[in-house]
Amino acid sequence: MKKLITVNLKANKYAIVISQHENEFLTAFKEVVKTNTFFVITDKNVEKLHLKYLTDLLKKQKGFNVKTAVISAGESGKSIKNLSLLYDKALEGGIDRKSCVIALGGGVVGDIAGFFAATYMRGIDFVQIPTTILAMTDSSVGGKTAINTNSGKNIAGAFYQPKLVWINSCFLSTLPVRHIRNGLSEVIKYAFIFDKEFYAYLFDMFKKDVISSDNFDYIIYQSCSYKAKVVEKDEKEITGLRAILNFGHTFAHALETATNYKKFLHGEAVAIGMLFAADLSLELKVCKPDTYKEVEDILLEAGFNLNVTVNTAQFLSLIKKDKKSVNGNIKFVLIKDIGKTINSYVEDSIVLNVLKKFAGENK
Ligand SMILES: NC(=O)c1ccc[n+]([C@@H]2O[C@H](COP(=O)([O-])OP(=O)(O)OC[C@H]3O[C@@H](n4cnc5c(N)ncnc54)[C@H](O)[C@@H]3O)[C@@H](O)[C@H]2O)c1
Repeated sequence: MKKLITVNLKANKYAIVISQHENEFLTAFKEVVKTNTFFVITDKNVEKLHLKYLTDLLKKQKGFNVKTAVISAGESGKSIKNLSLLYDKALEGGIDRKSCVIALGGGVVGDIAGFFAATYMRGIDFVQIPTTILAMTDSSVGGKTAINTNSGKNIAGAFYQPKLVWINSCFLSTLPVRHIRNGLSEVIKYAFIFDKEFYAYLFDMFKKDVISSDNFDYIIYQSCSYKAKVVEKDEKEITGLRAILNFGHTFAHALETATNYKKFLHGEAVAIGMLFAADLSLELKVCKPDTYKEVEDILLEAGFNLNVTVNTAQFLSLIKKDKKSVNGNIKFVLIKDIGKTINSYVEDSIVLNVLKKFAGENK
């Protein structure tokens, strides 16, 4: 059965339709999209698995005209070169200011297609059809779009909201296990930040070892609801509220940089980062040992490898580069209890001590 979330923003609002039924998508789609020309952007892997399904569905609608573009799969797909190719391909295909871009894929496709839509002819309509857990529970909601440049990740980007998000968990049947787990890290994050009951639900689900399609629909709904609530209150990361979603991310970004984005997927780095944040919270007596244990237990139950060794001095400088430290203090999201987090500045020396214990060579 369809689940619907409305994201209410100051200037506009849009729906997230969670449904395995294409008719429910088409009804919502035709309500918000007032064109018959579509530019579907996907990547090479998703092209093989799901592009035909979507283009057939669209072409069956009377008068619909569908053009497609396929980018390389993986993080390298979010490049300036690919963005430039998309502009060329769109112009060649007669995509104009009234056409609509459809992103069919994971976070990489969503980010570049969203940035393309934000900038092509000064902005055209855009619909997200995410196909990874990460994109279904995080990146397709909230309007952050970006590409990578030679100097780093997400360097060029825009806040640009979609007209509609359609989440069909059937797409997950082809997603490799490692990418399923990767996305689940952000789902567990929502439980740590907002909801003890959701934590218990997830824990039971991991214990059973099999994730049913009902489980997927439920955790996607919960995750999108939380993300939508935060985005509604702090769309452009101005009030600081949206920053709570960075639980585990300060450590994760440093780990991804230290390993050249090769060793860990983002969610895998976030899982380790959340445990580090819990360790820091314990050291600062923000949380009790039981809470640290609850954080560790669910991450292990979900199958994450939480063991990591880093050069602690270098790692601290990476953390400080990512999150500018103020008077020798770095801002972290800390956990008080499952479902309760706070933003707090932590002294460099404390971060370094916990880092040595957590990931130092002589731990
Ligand atoms: N905009 C945001 O708010 C936001 C938030 C978090 C992450 N991101 C971005 O998202 C990106 C990561 O997203 P991701 O984890 O979805 O990675 P991804 O888009 O690279 O997808 C992971 C892999 O799965 C493949 N794939 C996608 N759907 C599939 C399916 N249904 N079946 C089989 N294979 C499939 C892809 O081709 C790729 O190889 C990063 O670039 C990150 O910066 C953006």
